[in-house]
Amino acid sequence: MRRTAAAIVEGGRRIRSNVIASLVSTHALYGGVVPEIASREHLERIGEIVDRALADASIGLDEVDGIAVTYGPGLVGALLVGLSYAKSLAYAKRLPLIGINHIEGHVFSVVFDNESIAYPAVALIVSGGHTSLFLIPEPERYLLLGRTRDDAAGEAYDKVAKLLGLGYPGGPVIDRLAPTGDPSRAPLVFTVPQMRDDTLDFSFSGLKTAVLRFVRENSIEPVAEGSSPSQIVRDVAASFQQQAVRVLHARLRAAVRLHGPRTILLAGGVACNTALRDAVDELGRVSRVPVFKPSPILTTDNAAMIAAAGYPKLLRGERSSLSLNADPTLRLTGVRA
Ligand code: KG4
Ligand code: ZN
Repeated sequence: MRRTAAAIVEGGRRIRSNVIASLVSTHALYGGVVPEIASREHLERIGEIVDRALADASIGLDEVDGIAVTYGPGLVGALLVGLSYAKSLAYAKRLPLIGINHIEGHVFSVVFDNESIAYPAVALIVSGGHTSLFLIPEPERYLLLGRTRDDAAGEAYDKVAKLLGLGYPGGPVIDRLAPTGDPSRAPLVFTVPQMRDDTLDFSFSGLKTAVLRFVRENSIEPVAEGSSPSQIVRDVAASFQQQAVRVLHARLRAAVRLHGPRTILLAGGVACNTALRDAVDELGRVSRVPVFKPSPILTTDNAAMIAAAGYPKLLRGERSSLSLNADPTLRLTGVRA
């Protein structure tokens, strides 16, 4: 929800245009998303962004067959801006409107750069707001295997980066810094709680607290604006990244062992992370299961993935009503596998 985005996708898989306006610069000032400001920014820019997506694809609205739009989960103000805009276009042009779950959009972000997905698939969706593992027995059916009990993985990256004075969003900075640090020089002591109910749920708060404790005990100063990170800050970044990837990898490996999927999907903003991409590729090699990941530009929020998720629904004649409302806590599934 940090981006205003519009895209034109043809046949569910061919990106004709993909316009993404990042709201990051304003939010970098505050070290996070300020909902009120985000909504206003979306509102100011959405018209121009949709026009640009049409212009980049060299088509007019008359050539569009349907409009897919995110209606949840996320910040209600931001959702309402996109939803209201999509509804008015659908109404004015008498086009089918298809409401899409943002998380399902992330799942569909893999369709552009990969072969067709073989089912069952196991998907790890890791973003700033979500960390979930799904079993997908057949297209568009999702069974929840696990989700985070506290922070999302991207949120943990963002909080740790803030603590170290590395700015926002934290994921890309820590990812870039980690290879210049030595994880063994910043040992982080924490336990990943064993989930007693045998789910594959995640937890990142212990790791985040371990970083906080290490920083305090070693009197590590956050990086001052404009200066280069100290070696110990690089070591902490490396150690945090190693542990975060270890936690994600462990749960995904367990899911693959339990469910024997024919494809592994990795998506969401944190799927941009080099160490995580490598770890999941390695898991795929070891377990002989193909791994599908979006290209980096399609890992973070974008509209092409929403259009791709809308395509099979459009073909089936599924339509959302013009009274479709935003649902900030929308789930992809209530069902646990
Ligand atoms: O999917 P996304 O764009 O937005 C949400 O739906 O939340 O994900 C944004 C998140 C942020 O928390 C950001 O720090 C994280 O993805 N992220 C990364 C990387 N690039 C973005 N985390 C780790 N490594 C990266 N390279
Ligand atoms: Zn997202």
